[in-house]
Amino acid sequence: MVDLVAVSIAAGVVGVLAILHFTNGTGWEANADISQEILDTRAASVPETSFPEPMNRSIGGGGGAVPAVGEAGGQEGAELEEAEEESQSPADMPEDEVEYFDIELEKEGETIEVASNETILDKAEDEGFDLPYACRQGQCVSCAAHTPDGPAEDHVIHYEQETFTEEEMEEGYMLTCVAYPIDDFTLETNEAP
Ligand code: FES
Repeated sequence: MVDLVAVSIAAGVVGVLAILHFTNGTGWEANADISQEILDTRAASVPETSFPEPMNRSIGGGGGAVPAVGEAGGQEGAELEEAEEESQSPADMPEDEVEYFDIELEKEGETIEVASNETILDKAEDEGFDLPYACRQGQCVSCAAHTPDGPAEDHVIHYEQETFTEEEMEEGYMLTCVAYPIDDFTLETNEAP
């Protein structure tokens, strides 16, 4: 004989499954993509820069690509060219532009002729004078000298001197290791401010 209890339970289970099968559950939607929103927020909080900064640019900030030196245009390009010209050493001047100047070494009691493309220190050594020096790059004061004839820059071009202030050069101080003559003058060697 059929067990009525078992049949009722089985019918109940089937009924529940049928109801579940035909019932529409709550819908599923993908989360909104928030990554762009985050990038925009972070970009707004990063200051703009005028130099290439890959990590900054990657989140939306920073400037555009910096043009290569050869491509720089307008005022920027002109400034670059000017800086290049200014950094040209007098030692590289063409031979047909070289001039010669008389420099009286007051303490030594001698006058030497120095070309505009050679330093006073080099020429004085060539002439047999034992002048003081250390770095030979305009970065110490070992080779310092003084002209009583006025501002140093009226008599020499300093190539990359990093030691004297404008005022000291106004007073006539110069570094003979990086000083190229542009005029005749008297020089007191071994004199620092
Ligand atoms: S030797 Fe150092 S500045 Fe001239």
